[in-house]
Amino acid sequence: MSTLDDDYDIRTFAAALDPEAGDGSPRADAATAAWVAAESMGFHEPAADDDALGRSARRLVADGRRLTGVYRRDANPGSLDAEGRPVATFTSFDKTLHVGGGRLVEADLVAGVTVQPTHRRRGLLRRMITDDLARARSAGTPVAALTASEGSIYRRFGFGVGVRERTVEVDVRRAGGLLSEPEGSTELVTPASLTETAPAVFARFHRRTPGSIDRHEGSWDNVLRRERADGTPDPAVRAAVHRDATGAVDGYVTYRVDSIGGGPGSTGTQTLVVIDLVAATDDAYLGLWQLLLAVDLVATVRYPNAPQHDPLAHALVDGRALTIVHDEDHVWFRVLDPVAALQARPWAADGVVTVAIGDSLGHAAGTYRITSEGGDATVKKAAVRRADLELDVATLGSLWLGGFDPVTLAAAGLVRERRKGAVARLRAMLTPERPVHGITYF
Ligand SMILES: CC(C)(COP(=O)(O)OP(=O)(O)OC[C@H]1O[C@@H](n2cnc3c(N)ncnc32)[C@H](O)[C@@H]1OP(=O)(O)O)[C@@H](O)C(=O)NCCC(=O)NCCS
Repeated sequence: MSTLDDDYDIRTFAAALDPEAGDGSPRADAATAAWVAAESMGFHEPAADDDALGRSARRLVADGRRLTGVYRRDANPGSLDAEGRPVATFTSFDKTLHVGGGRLVEADLVAGVTVQPTHRRRGLLRRMITDDLARARSAGTPVAALTASEGSIYRRFGFGVGVRERTVEVDVRRAGGLLSEPEGSTELVTPASLTETAPAVFARFHRRTPGSIDRHEGSWDNVLRRERADGTPDPAVRAAVHRDATGAVDGYVTYRVDSIGGGPGSTGTQTLVVIDLVAATDDAYLGLWQLLLAVDLVATVRYPNAPQHDPLAHALVDGRALTIVHDEDHVWFRVLDPVAALQARPWAADGVVTVAIGDSLGHAAGTYRITSEGGDATVKKAAVRRADLELDVATLGSLWLGGFDPVTLAAAGLVRERRKGAVARLRAMLTPERPVHGITYF
């Protein structure tokens, strides 16, 4: 029987631009262009021209992305594979992840996973992802993360849901405004002006919010400009900022108003869709919402990236004006080094628990003693006959930053308690200082 390596050439290389292209606009080098074309086909996007491939490549290069392509050794003449296109794609790159207390760790971000329909279910995903996780582990990266297009693929590789998100809709008339008056002020600005101010606001949000992942090059073009296929910004995007009492910008929002059903200008039926709302303070979050709820000719405000623990429903005069229309997994964490990952985060309560971790890929497998004291934990391999708690590495990914309650996950059959009270103790130890959330897509 032939092996994967007999049939395919699996190569990992750095995204690169063509140094020969002289007209000023970026051009992808041949391998990067073929990779981007294959990846966008996998996600059912329209075929990109050279300009679009160049813009994508510039972003991949800026993020220092590692690209993996799987190439057929015996491609049939005339097929896409014969033109140097990979039949499967995978990419990873490093960005910081906020683990609480302002502490950041490097995370291996996995993205761009596609396999052509004619090559699926032969183990190509398994090969690409297990190779990358092994590389990241040996490079000393404590955790990997991804966002999944389907919910049943990645647990087998040790990823557990670490952050959930929801889409909410607010009925503007029913909401009746806010119960409290946020401090500061808001004003409308051009989306272009945010290029200067938005990254600093995001940096403050990032260091305030456990679970947040730093943004990559492509995120900014999407959230500030809603860049279209031809590289131009969406002219319907509007923007506003929030300023604190000293006049400093501490929050911003980008949005567009879409007509649902009634056609442009059909007053009162329009929906304001939030594209990006980044607040570095509670007042900025509420102040921006106050502005969004005051936009005339809008019946509904829709926010697709709302946190699980959203203060908004509490803040509205009529909390029933807010409807959760969708709720799903957002970021999945894969702990590669339990000692480094667990020691990196701050700990909310003193205590000692031993945890046996199962990991079919081996990286995190073992029994560990976690001793937390004064806000920090020491984590060591432990030689105990029976650990207080048993769980697998995907569940560890869910518990790690405190986004999910161990009591709930024990009830779901994912944590086995061998010493009475250990689940409750771990719950107290893991409580995050602020709700876990993230607004970065990759
Ligand atoms: C996910 C995807 C890339 C799988 O590629 P693949 O090469 O066929 O997967 P493999 O053959 O390596 O399968 C590995 C394992 O995952 C399972 N698996 C693969 N795709 C799955 C899916 N869509 N749903 C559930 N399980 C899946 C396989 O059954 C196999 O399980 P096992 O090893 O436990 O027996 C492919 O389904 C795809 O292109 N999906 C759409 C794009 C996508 O989801 N991208 C992820 C966002 S970054």
